[in-house]
Order: sequence, then C-alpha cells, then structure tokens
Amino acid sequence: MVKVYTIASGKGGTGKTTVSVNLGTMLAQLGKETYLMDADIGMANVGLVLGLQDAPVTLHEVLAGKGNINDAIYEGPAGLKVIPSGISLQGFQQADPDRIRDVMGELVKRCEFLLIDAPAGISKDGVVPLAVADEVILIVNPELSSIVDALKTKILTEVVGGHVLGSIINRVDQDKTDIITKKMEKVLGVKVIGIIRRTPMSAGHPLPRPRSSSSFQHPPHPRLSGGLLPILSGLPIRKRRRLRSRKVSSTASARHFSGRKLNNNFNLFLVFRVHTALLTAETHDQ
Ligand SMILES: Nc1ncnc2c1ncn2[C@@H]1O[C@H](COP(=O)(O)OP(=O)(O)OP(=O)(O)O)[C@@H](O)[C@H]1O
Ligand SMILES: [Mg+2]
Repeated sequence: MVKVYTIASGKGGTGKTTVSVNLGTMLAQLGKETYLMDADIGMANVGLVLGLQDAPVTLHEVLAGKGNINDAIYEGPAGLKVIPSGISLQGFQQADPDRIRDVMGELVKRCEFLLIDAPAGISKDGVVPLAVADEVILIVNPELSSIVDALKTKILTEVVGGHVLGSIINRVDQDKTDIITKKMEKVLGVKVIGIIRRTPMSAGHPLPRPRSSSSFQHPPHPRLSGGLLPILSGLPIRKRRRLRSRKVSSTASARHFSGRKLNNNFNLFLVFRVHTALLTAETHDQ
C-alpha cells in the first residue's frame, strides 16, 4: 500500500528539507520505491541540496502546464526519485498550486512511499500536502516560535482533514531530552517520534550550499533507520548499507540526474532516536 508522508513545520528553517532528503534516501536504501517531491514551490531547496538546481524540467513547469511529470523526475541517491521545484521567481509565479493534488495523484500510482517536503507557513500550495497525506510529520525546533507555529500547522492539518503522526525535534542541544520531549508532547498534543541533535558542522550554514557543504553530502546515520523507519515502513532494520553516488544516465520514465559524491562522516542523525513508547504509534492507513 502506498504511504504518503508530508514533512511540515509552520516556522521556516526547522529542518524539513534535511529530514525529507535523508529519510527518503533511507527508504530508497531499503529497496522501497520512494519518491520525494519538493512542494515548497516558492523557496525550493531539495534541488539545491541534491545538486539538481539545473534540472531543465521541474515541478514549476508541471504546475504551469508546460511540462510533463515524467520529465520532472530525477534519480537521487540510492535510487530515490526526486521531483524538485525550480528556483526562479518567474517559475513560481507561473506555477498553479491547484495542480499539486493531480501531480500527487499521478505519483502515488508509481511508488510505495511519497514524501512531500512542505513549505513553511500557511499557503495554498502548503495546505494540499497537509490534507492529502496519510500522515504529517512536524519538524520542530526547541524554541517557542517554532513550537507555536507547529501547533498552528497541526490544527490546520486537522481542519483540512489530515492526520499528524508526530513530531521530530530538530537541533536539540540539551543532553537530557526527556524534559523537552514531555513539554513538546504536552504543548503540541502529538508524540515526539524522533530527536535530532544540532550538529556543529551544519551550524552557521543557514541554507544548504550547492556543490560544497550541504545537509545531504553525508549519508544518514543508521539510528535513523533503526528508529523512525520501522514506524514508517513497517520493517525491522537489521543492517546499514552505504550510499553510493550514481552515474548520470536517462531512461524513458525517469530522467536521471547527476548524483553527488557523498561523504561518510555524517552525524546529523547520530542521536536520532524514537522513544520506545512511540514504537507503538498508530499508523493511519486510509
Ligand atoms: N540538526 C541540525 N543541526 C545543525 N544544522 C541543521 C540541523 N538540521 C538542519 N540544519 C541546517 O539548518 C538549515 C535549515 O534546514 P532545512 O533547509 O532542512 O530547513 P527547512 O525547514 O527545510 O527550511 P525552509 O522552511 O526554508 O524550507 C540548513 O542549513 C540545514 O543544514
Ligand atoms: Mg526546506
């Protein structure tokens, strides 16, 4: 059965794209047919993080009725299929958010997992992914503004008929995470399904930088697969497989784009873990 997960926040810059890309790659590494769509059509970052910023056809063209979805699918790491959004303002202006639902409808026919990197804030293009996903995962930073905005997004999700699976607290500095977890669960009213430490390496780089350091040049840590992935995929994870960069090639159905050389020192997910109690978190099959 296809599962659609929307990675959302409320406040910008909380780590949605970082989590989307790493999670998508881990699912692809498990051999799951996984698609990642950048629904942040205004401030698209997935393409930048994965080195797809020069993609000739993106979600922008598809939403503008100028391109076919088949031409906007690129191969990322581990066979992850990526639908980037364009980075031009003109492309954004021409993109029609009303078409997002149709695009998602087309993509779910092809995959086992569809991850949607949602835009921050409350916008038309952001509401559809909240409404039509099987589950919404909120990425929250441990600061008041982020928590308040995440709460708004949770309420909005429920208003439009969506369902929030839980939250991931990203950029945690504290050693003791139990207190913050309890507080977050109390305020948001959803389970905390993961915790990610702030990494000194990425700190100071507010946006992923193409062709230099980015949040994705480093493969996800196995604790991500040993934690969140069983909840999402329903599979026990036994061993880690290393990511390999891919050569450029093209096929009729998916345009393959250059994979980026990956560095194996990634520790963003070093302390990413799912609390034991959350392993029983409800999955919301629809
Ligand atoms: N755990 C972390 N520790 C340090 N830096 C991080 C961490 N998670 C993400 N970052 C960095 O924070 C910045 C914002 O992350 P990201 O782009 O994933 O957020 P976002 O929620 O997608 O932002 P936007 O709302 O603008 O789309 C990036 O530079 C990323 O590398
Ligand atoms: Mg983003």
